[in-house]
Amino acid sequence: MLDKLKARWKVNGLNLLLIISTFALGGSLCGYAGRRILLLTGLEKGFAWIVLYILLVTLLWPLCVLLISIPLGQFRFFRSYIGKIGNKIRGKKGAQPHRVAIFASGAGSNARRILEHFAGSETVAVSLIVCNKPGAGVLDIAREFKVPSLLIEKDNFFRGDHYLAELKKSGIDFIVLAGFLWKIPSGLIGAYPGRIINIHPALLPKYGGKGMYGNHVHEAVIAAGEKESGITIHYVDEQYDHGKTILQATCPVTPDDSPASLAQKIHALEHQHYPKLIGELLQKQNHR
Ligand code: GAR
Repeated sequence: MLDKLKARWKVNGLNLLLIISTFALGGSLCGYAGRRILLLTGLEKGFAWIVLYILLVTLLWPLCVLLISIPLGQFRFFRSYIGKIGNKIRGKKGAQPHRVAIFASGAGSNARRILEHFAGSETVAVSLIVCNKPGAGVLDIAREFKVPSLLIEKDNFFRGDHYLAELKKSGIDFIVLAGFLWKIPSGLIGAYPGRIINIHPALLPKYGGKGMYGNHVHEAVIAAGEKESGITIHYVDEQYDHGKTILQATCPVTPDDSPASLAQKIHALEHQHYPKLIGELLQKQNHR
């Protein structure tokens, strides 16, 4: 049952616990508020009281749940959840959500943030994790969030359109690279024009290109005595770390920085900007 809910809402165990707590506390709060309001009217308990109580509780429930969701960090989930209920009541069929695939090769901290950001979203569903490294941390994250994963293999990826069919079959309409270390073949770029983006842990065009990933980038930045580094989010083209820049954000590099401490600053910037920017880009695609 709990596993089914995790899969349905695409959340991990902790988030599910917080969501269930929000339902419980929000429900109690609205029951309490409903009784207090009826007390003020001086109405005797009876049929009218029960009808009014049900009406009040129905009206107050979304408000109470949203209120409780704020301190429990679940506001985004409940805003979207209540929006969906509203749509159902109005008989409005929500637009199909964008189906996003995350391509990653490593630990997957960006993938995790993106999954958390869109958990319960009505408009964006992270539907597939694509990975080229058996045993990579991102595969555990996919399992945790109950998102299907696809382990790809070099020959099939670079020759032919084997995986393209898989992506299309999963209904993927946007691809997000989050620490994915293979170049994207032109067939895939052609199939998703303007719909593949990458994040790079430096201020491109500096410190990009083949072999420039993860700590190699931070080591090079420190060795060059840079005073500033940052992140670049860009569209993907046929060259490594090359397509049109969408966003850059910076952080200082201090004399006591090591590659590890710089990596931490960069990850913080990535987690802050990447999920939000993906949401904004997909929203713009809706208006095209
Ligand atoms: C991120 O810092 C990302 O910018 C970098 O790999 C890291 C993956 O971290 N990508 C590149 O270097 C691509 N050239 P994560 O697995 O924790 O998300």
